[in-house]
Amino acid sequence: MTPRKRAYIETYGCQMNVSDGELMEGILTRGGYDIAQRPEDADVIIVNTCAIRDHAEQRVVGRVGDLYRLKRDRPDIVIGVTGCMAQRLGERMLEQVPHLDLVMGPDSYRGLPDALAKLRPATLPGGAVASVTAEATSHTRRTLPVLGEAAAKAPRLAMLDFVAEENYEGLEQRRASTVTAWVPVQRGCNYRCTYCIVPYVRGSEKNRAPSHIIDEVRGLAAKGLTEVVLLGQTVNSYEAEDWDFARLLRAVARVDGIRRVRFTSPHPNDMTQALIDVMAEEPAVCKQLHLPAQSGHDRTLKRMLRRYTVAQYLDIIRRVREAMPGIALSTDIIVGFPGETDEEYEATLDLMREVRFDDAFMYKYSLREGTPATRLPLSQHVAPEVAQQRLERLIDLHREIQLEINTAELGRVEEVLVERVAKSAGDVLGRTDSFKVIAFPGDPSSIGSYMHVRTTQTSGATFRGAALPASPAHRVA
Ligand code: 5AD
Ligand code: SF4
Repeated sequence: MTPRKRAYIETYGCQMNVSDGELMEGILTRGGYDIAQRPEDADVIIVNTCAIRDHAEQRVVGRVGDLYRLKRDRPDIVIGVTGCMAQRLGERMLEQVPHLDLVMGPDSYRGLPDALAKLRPATLPGGAVASVTAEATSHTRRTLPVLGEAAAKAPRLAMLDFVAEENYEGLEQRRASTVTAWVPVQRGCNYRCTYCIVPYVRGSEKNRAPSHIIDEVRGLAAKGLTEVVLLGQTVNSYEAEDWDFARLLRAVARVDGIRRVRFTSPHPNDMTQALIDVMAEEPAVCKQLHLPAQSGHDRTLKRMLRRYTVAQYLDIIRRVREAMPGIALSTDIIVGFPGETDEEYEATLDLMREVRFDDAFMYKYSLREGTPATRLPLSQHVAPEVAQQRLERLIDLHREIQLEINTAELGRVEEVLVERVAKSAGDVLGRTDSFKVIAFPGDPSSIGSYMHVRTTQTSGATFRGAALPASPAHRVA
């Protein structure tokens, strides 16, 4: 018997992309592949990419460049690029990277095994029929003679269509974690924030049927997973049949065996009172909210087309805190958006001081070709050194606040879901209900269980702690 072929997937970017990586691993496993842990061991190498900022793309360019070395030694391997950058650049990637065989956008993942069989009909699973169809693109490899004649004639594929009917149902993820499951409930985005590439690479919003989501969560609980994270680009705009997100969240929180439910990322405009009520009422919904603010000034928010004002954002935060005192809050902020004046930037610092976020992801604006913000006058663009300074000051302010918040939480006993072995020897690492990370001395056998842990130290962002002796590790399976 010939050994099964092996595929390796390397994912960059957000949780949706990580989840898509798991989806492709599931599709390939059922398509006759084993999953390799290193590209060196694989017959098929997929780089699953992110396009949100230029920096994310540059990392991928470097990585795909490195893979040339493997292709030189083993010209028969397939190298593919999937995800948002593949969708954004499409055939341009095939033209620019001669050792690339495949570019594929998210709506085509179901066809991954077929595409691979077309690329290598003689060697890869499903490729017994040696017919390379006209779908194979005619890009030549004249720029890379070093790969030899055979490789120069090999077909290459670009699969980039948006497929309205693709609902991703019936595809099962190969989940890496036995503790937490990421469950996409929505794909694409109907907002058009002017800086953002997502709507152009992920298409418009598509929501899964509630019954499919709930069945999936039941299945996860049956396997012993107790934490689920519902994923969507604007997850709380979810709408399917007569379900909204509040109703979906409640139903998921009530699935037997599920002890923790989180969701990411909501849009402020869809933070209904009904959703806040469900969060407050359902014990399984974690008391944690990641609510991207992006800026603390109305003029910037308007140019970003965020569709809310600072006052409206603050009103949501007030109602959330009123319903759930002690809830942990986090956010995303962009500095240096075109036209951002000192005054507008200072307002973002004020927002940070006012809300006092437990966590924040802060970025410098990165111009994305094809997005509406590229049409803002060049004269308004913020100089890179100014944007850098703004970012550094904001990060410093956030760190200061975070250290204060977490220092005030020292000595508390938290219920921690143990996720994995920590880097520091003898420690395991888990998260509190509020999504904070605690490392503490513990045994790998505790992974997947809930323990009571007293926090003893904080670095600012994370904690160290000690498990309470009286706390039996109870696994709910
Ligand atoms: N430049 C910088 N940051 C961006 N984000 C999205 N697009 C850009 C961009 N062009 C940030 C936003 C978003 C997060 C996922 O990435 O803050 O919430
Ligand atoms: Fe991008 Fe805005 Fe959609 Fe979020 S809501 S994915 S920032 S366009």
